[in-house]
Amino acid sequence: MDLGDIRREYERAMLSRAELKGDPITQFEAWYRDAEAAQVAEVNAVSLSTVDADGRPTARTVLVKYFDADGFVFFTNTGSRKAADIEANPHVCLLFFWQPLERQVIIRGAAEKVSRAETMRYFARRPRGSQLGAWVSRQSSVISSRQILAAQLESMRRKFADGDVPMPDFWSGYRVRPRDVEFWQGGRDRLHDRFLYRRAADGWTVDRLAP
Ligand SMILES: Cc1cc2nc3c(=O)[nH]c(=O)nc-3n(C[C@H](O)[C@H](O)[C@H](O)COP(=O)(O)O)c2cc1C
Repeated sequence: MDLGDIRREYERAMLSRAELKGDPITQFEAWYRDAEAAQVAEVNAVSLSTVDADGRPTARTVLVKYFDADGFVFFTNTGSRKAADIEANPHVCLLFFWQPLERQVIIRGAAEKVSRAETMRYFARRPRGSQLGAWVSRQSSVISSRQILAAQLESMRRKFADGDVPMPDFWSGYRVRPRDVEFWQGGRDRLHDRFLYRRAADGWTVDRLAP
């Protein structure tokens, strides 16, 4: 299948240095709010890339549940492939593509587990079905059928029928602490605007990159 004739001009907006915020988190927050306002679907969905101990990359989507000056936090199973990758090599990349706004944000940095107390605070906010679901899946392992999952869910339902669902000890938040962040705004004739924030000793440097 030849996709060579698919072509789109990006003409919604431009990004200038003058409008950039002083740090990438504040800049990200402004763009995040724009994406929310534009009703971008799955606005907090991000592509997370990791590499394994042999340097082989894998990407997958996760949901960022909160972010602040310390970084971007997602939750996952600590037995999963991504968790094993991060254990072997904490350097990861997060990529948001907000198509309706013709914007992309790429965050690179190191991921680390958040504390158990912090993970528990988020776990408590999850709906009961998601809490039970966290118990059921040994994420990324091979399974023989879907029936196994349904049976496990049922058995967890019975096990925790009376009272709160405890947090599995194989579940955790991970915080990606940005080392550099690129903001990309699609431009006419492929002359896109790209600005790269890099962490410096006392704050951030910002450079414009060629598209
Ligand atoms: C929109 C979307 C959101 C997702 N959010 C999460 C998430 O927050 N945490 C998670 O562990 N998996 C999430 N997944 C599933 C992952 O993409 C992936 O299949 C799973 O985490 C196993 O990845 P791994 O085998 O590379 O560790 C999401 C998938 C999609 C499509």
